Amino acid sequence: MDKQIEKITEFAKMRLGQDHTGHGFDHAQRVARLARKITEEQSGDPLIIQGAALLHDTIDDKVVADSAKALQEVEAFLHSLTLTQEQVTEILYIITHLSFSRELEKGKAVLSIEGQIVQDADRLDALGALGIMRTAYFGGSHGHPIYDPEIKPENYQDKATYRKGSTVINHFYEKLFLLADSMNTRLGKEEAMRRKKFMTDFLAEFYQEWAD
Ligand code: ADP
Ligand code: NI
Repeated sequence: MDKQIEKITEFAKMRLGQDHTGHGFDHAQRVARLARKITEEQSGDPLIIQGAALLHDTIDDKVVADSAKALQEVEAFLHSLTLTQEQVTEILYIITHLSFSRELEKGKAVLSIEGQIVQDADRLDALGALGIMRTAYFGGSHGHPIYDPEIKPENYQDKATYRKGSTVINHFYEKLFLLADSMNTRLGKEEAMRRKKFMTDFLAEFYQEWAD
């Protein structure tokens, strides 16, 4: 199994190494590490968890031009590692069902414990200091303003308008704070609350400096 995870890590590095929107290989590695931490107090198949954590953004439309093609490539790659059909199916299911943008359109998917762990790990990396940095980095790469009090946060119902986005600060309300309330595991919930608190404090300071 270690050899298989090593090969998956190499594949993720190759696919995500060029990303400059906050979904690079460093994000995949943090998600894998957070998932391991959550797994310490939760049972779950480590190969499925590490595989899905490392690969979850390699098929994302933010990162790749053709996500259907990327999904086929990930599937072929996993088969080349001689994973069972069941393991491949489970990893592909998790990576195609965990995202917030998918939930906007289709509602919360039913996830296995492995899927719940990877989803929590991905969501934790969207929060806290790292979450703030990734959001600013993403906003900058998409030409969004940092903040504009005239532009109010939206309650997005579909992926296309969500993808357009508005301002970096609005993204905290449009997505990030909602994530903190949607965690699956005990550790995920606890750590999400801690990270959300840090962000709330950050916003208080931000508004103070904006007004000064
Ligand atoms: P998911 O993969 O769960 O659908 P997203 O693709 O919406 O998640 O976002 C992943 C991360 O990318 C967010 O946590 C955030 O840091 C950044 N991001 C996505 N959309 C925006 C946006 N409109 N403005 C700023 N950051 C964004
Ligand atoms: Ni991610």
